[in-house]
Amino acid sequence: MKIAIVGTGYVGTALSCGFAKKNHEVVCSDLDKDKIREINNGNLPFFEKDLGNFIKDSVSKGLLRGTTSTVDAVEGADVIFLAVDTPVGKDGEINLESIKEASKDIAKGLENNKSYSVVAVKSTVTPKTTEEVIIPVLEQSGKTLGEEIGVCVNPEFLREGTALNDFLNPDRIVIGELDQKSGDKLEQVYRDFDAPIMRTGLREAELIKCASNSLLATKISFINEIGNLCKKIDIDIYDIVDGVAMDSRIERSFLNSGAGFGGSCFPKDVRALIKNIKDKGEDASILEEVVNTNDRQKTRIVDQLDQEINISDSTVAILGLSFKPGTDDIRNSPAIDIISELKNKGARVKAYDPEAMANMRKEHGSIEYVKNYREALNNCDAALIVTDWPEFNKIDRGDLKSMNNPLIIEGRKLEYDIPDKSRKGITWP
Ligand code: UDX
Repeated sequence: MKIAIVGTGYVGTALSCGFAKKNHEVVCSDLDKDKIREINNGNLPFFEKDLGNFIKDSVSKGLLRGTTSTVDAVEGADVIFLAVDTPVGKDGEINLESIKEASKDIAKGLENNKSYSVVAVKSTVTPKTTEEVIIPVLEQSGKTLGEEIGVCVNPEFLREGTALNDFLNPDRIVIGELDQKSGDKLEQVYRDFDAPIMRTGLREAELIKCASNSLLATKISFINEIGNLCKKIDIDIYDIVDGVAMDSRIERSFLNSGAGFGGSCFPKDVRALIKNIKDKGEDASILEEVVNTNDRQKTRIVDQLDQEINISDSTVAILGLSFKPGTDDIRNSPAIDIISELKNKGARVKAYDPEAMANMRKEHGSIEYVKNYREALNNCDAALIVTDWPEFNKIDRGDLKSMNNPLIIEGRKLEYDIPDKSRKGITWP
């Protein structure tokens, strides 16, 4: 099938690669000329190993190309995925400007289309946005809704770092549909996927996405709250989770306690859902506490460091800057707040991350960035593990000797072999 993808942020680019891998003919569009040039040269506009290996192949086989014109991308497309960003302000209000602008461009493109096409919303939006904001703009194409154009909401559950694998092996495919014709057409795109397909309404699909991310974030804040108790009574939260998750009613995933959640999705999606619930006059106190707990959790590691050393005038190594391993994305990464706190307290900061240092430089330009974790540990008074990059498991007793004071505080669980007296966990002894 011919597929257009509007927006080449993380989701749009990952989807473009995924659909090309499934041998669909994909044209992606973005206003950002640099990103489109990168894509047409077979390069990812961000770091992700599996996608990076794959994109060149798709472009050279002619299955994927980029354009700065959405009208061009939409021409002749069977399905048009809307995958532009939906930033959320501090008050939780989703900024729908990109959605509206992209929908206008899609409508212009649809004017020229001779055959039936479906617009599928991938961007995360709160319930009823498609009906109240997107559809009225699409109708400006002059095409008849339901007859000449279809509309679906097809939420995205890809995780950064593992997007290609998540795309190819989804737990489920949710198709929210305007009508049966729209859903049938979109389902054809997924015909050779081995996953259950749930067909539902537009606003139901929108809420499935918001509720899924909010529940996963809730699991993390919940387990961090229990983890903070564990720390106080000198037990390991991971032992507790093992025991809890043996109950078949409780799913083990997303119960890894640590420095809290970051990224481009959880923090914004939870805030947007809180606003949506409160706008409807309902109570969102559980989700509000999920956010508050997470905000406190991110910098707890600095409070622990405070109990161990005199932070002012110390040198602290930060190992890991991205919000999780496998990506160079630092959006809402705990590392941002941790570095700010350390600087406020007068510490010198030496930071290392295998992929995210260029991005963190834009946020924190005044700290020292070093080439590997050994350099970071060298002559520092303590090290904080903020991202669980696998390479940090190689830290060994020899590395400790290069530190002024052999102390590592772990914001993420690692499995390296160093003596217990030199390591302390954020929610484990
Ligand atoms: C998330 C959702 O998982 C995905 O379905 C959605 O489409 C986009 O948002 P992503 O943001 O890429 O994906 O990362 P994810 O792996 O979910 O982790 C989010 C954050 O939670 C990270 O900072 C991670 O370190 C943290 N986390 C995750 C925990 O602290 N504990 C856990 O058990 C799991």
